[in-house]
Amino acid sequence: MASGEKTGASGGPAKEMYGHVKAVNLDQRGRAGLEILGAMQNYIAGTVRDRAKKEFMRDPEGAELAQHWKERHNEPWPERIAKARTVAERSAAYRYERLMQRYVGEQVYVRGVPAAERRRKEAEVYYAAPVPSAGGTLELDPSIELPKWYTETEWHLMPGGWDGYDLMGITMGSGVGPYVFARGGYAAVEANDDIRQQRVDVVKQFPKKSYGRIYEPGCGGTSTLYAVHKTFPEAELIGSDYSPHLLRQGLLSADKLGFKVTLKQRDAADTREPSESMDGVIMYALQHEMPIDVNIAALKEAFRILKPGGDLVMSDPPPFAAVDPLQAVVLDWDTDHRDEPYFSITREYEWEKVMKDIGFVNTEAYALGAQGYPWIVRGSKPL
Ligand SMILES: C[S@@+](CC[C@H](N)C(=O)[O-])C[C@H]1O[C@@H](n2cnc3c(N)ncnc32)[C@H](O)[C@@H]1O
Repeated sequence: MASGEKTGASGGPAKEMYGHVKAVNLDQRGRAGLEILGAMQNYIAGTVRDRAKKEFMRDPEGAELAQHWKERHNEPWPERIAKARTVAERSAAYRYERLMQRYVGEQVYVRGVPAAERRRKEAEVYYAAPVPSAGGTLELDPSIELPKWYTETEWHLMPGGWDGYDLMGITMGSGVGPYVFARGGYAAVEANDDIRQQRVDVVKQFPKKSYGRIYEPGCGGTSTLYAVHKTFPEAELIGSDYSPHLLRQGLLSADKLGFKVTLKQRDAADTREPSESMDGVIMYALQHEMPIDVNIAALKEAFRILKPGGDLVMSDPPPFAAVDPLQAVVLDWDTDHRDEPYFSITREYEWEKVMKDIGFVNTEAYALGAQGYPWIVRGSKPL
């Protein structure tokens, strides 16, 4: 352990590290291997992608596409994106940037998993140590049927998917999170974006000053619930997810950070919460990981559990229509190259309209960041 660095395990204050509390310090080899990936990703998504964007706009076909990007509503999105990709691929900067994106996407696990393995003993001590409860609970449901689209996807190239590796919490929270994700530059996250601050900024899109009960379907490791807690300390927090691994990590993080959550293993589309029982629902980075029919069912479920006058805030990467053509090509790329099967199809939809059709009122869709991310769609259940 590097001297002077404190963790929850060593008795120092716990720190939320991009989805998990930092549990152990990786060895020097592990840290260095990941840090170089973080630096590379930051460089390619910043300097190299900027160059690719300039080259795209210098190409007459690229400039023409950009000019009419949002108007071509009679042309299906996959065809529009394919045209833009043809232009993008003429640029060596674009091809290099994408090659390195895939390289970093694979290497974070190629390096991060062995780095966590080398800390297995420390991790076991960390997980075995008693943690004072912050009052939260976790209810797993072994009878829940996890759909194949969920279990058979290795999300973001993660070996075995969300529940495939018992030390993934260490790989991510003590490695990939602080050394790679912290520098931004992947998927819709721009180079130098701070994803922890982005979560807080998204939570601030709830329109009221205070909330009674806030529910997060697909809450994963409770990072967003922590941002909710920081913004609305008075709110009672309830979260659910399919993944037992993430829910266990999430409860541990909440205990370490000292905030109370009620966690349940549930389908986002079937929360089993009473109707009209929540003041707010937040969905963060959930939409792009679910098929369209499940997304619509999850939105209907959010509407059902909200009290009249309650608010929904949803944040995900932006729709293709809200970004420039090269950025749309970049977003679309994740579908086939970073194991995100629903990334593109969910970018084609106008979710504000879907919400209106379900019955939400005062709906709005807008970007918080310059490249359309974080993208917000919000609305309320009528009084
Ligand atoms: C990218 S993560 C985001 C996690 C969390 N919202 C956050 O802000 O860190 C997506 C999460 O959605 C969960 N998920 C996807 N589909 C789900 C479904 N139908 N029901 C419950 N959880 C789901 C995954 O297990 C994963 O934890």
